[in-house]
Amino acid sequence: MLELRNPEAPVIPSETNAWTRKDLLDTDTMTAAEIQLVMETADGMREVRSRPVAKVATLRGVTVITLFYEQSTRTRASFEVAAKALGADVVNLTASGSSVEKGETLIDTVRTLEAIGADLVVMRHGKSGAPYLAARNTAAGIINGGDGTHAHPTQALLDLFTMRRHVGDVAGKKVVIVGDVLHSRVARSNLWTLLASGADVTLCGPATLLPRTLASQASELGRCTVTTNMDHAIAGADIVMALRMQKERQEKGLIPSLREYITGFQVNARRLALAKPGALVMHPGPMNEGIEISPEVAHGMASVIEEQVANGVAVRMAILYLMATARHA
Ligand code: NCD
Repeated sequence: MLELRNPEAPVIPSETNAWTRKDLLDTDTMTAAEIQLVMETADGMREVRSRPVAKVATLRGVTVITLFYEQSTRTRASFEVAAKALGADVVNLTASGSSVEKGETLIDTVRTLEAIGADLVVMRHGKSGAPYLAARNTAAGIINGGDGTHAHPTQALLDLFTMRRHVGDVAGKKVVIVGDVLHSRVARSNLWTLLASGADVTLCGPATLLPRTLASQASELGRCTVTTNMDHAIAGADIVMALRMQKERQEKGLIPSLREYITGFQVNARRLALAKPGALVMHPGPMNEGIEISPEVAHGMASVIEEQVANGVAVRMAILYLMATARHA
């Protein structure tokens, strides 16, 4: 295990690092204990971030490579800030400008990165499952930064961390996820962490954008309801999470018009009044203000959207720390 070289280093359960995974590909197989380990480690990292010099040298000598085949603002930047805050070396690669443009296969690319000395590779890819293929073909640890419509585990973990800071234990809390659930890797990964944590999850959206089979699978694991009625979904909710309406969906004819979507599903002040007083409003970003969420709600008292972004750094620090130290144990 890497020692904490800085005497001011965070108090993290380092000698009991129970992290055993080479990769973080999704949250679907994470146990409640693993989720708890990430949450506690992230608490320590949040404390590091609040110091006047918000950096430690804990991961000095560790190389983190970000490999993004799809665009990203928050995920990539926060992984880079997180890795640097722990003293790791970071290299950022995008598909354009790398040999990927010359037709290098994903397997060749990750093997090359491993040969260069990558300990951890944070990867985003447009195809669902791509990080699984990468993980099987390299000794480097693969962190899924979003794959197709499948999974986005660090987003779900930062969302849970943000919820817990406001409502404490989410067990028994009503969480509503609204929008294009069918194509949302954020919704899918959130579903698993929330059910493992005992939350009561409602998935809401137009019938064409709701994953029926996923919902029945989820119902076997915990309390999961699916509805197309937004007013029923939001009634008594503790947490309301809006998803980005991806314009491509409308082009495919899955929603009749944006106007109808707004009428039926926008998170706005009138609807929020049906939720529990003080209910939290969340959004993974990037937001289409005026479509899935009204500007007044996006920037209103109930919104923790900016805090989600800030917490993303602490949670990603926790993931990098747990994975890197487990590799060197
Ligand atoms: C999401 C993503 O890319 O999966 N954004 C993010 O990582 N914060 C959500 C989206 O693009 O709608």
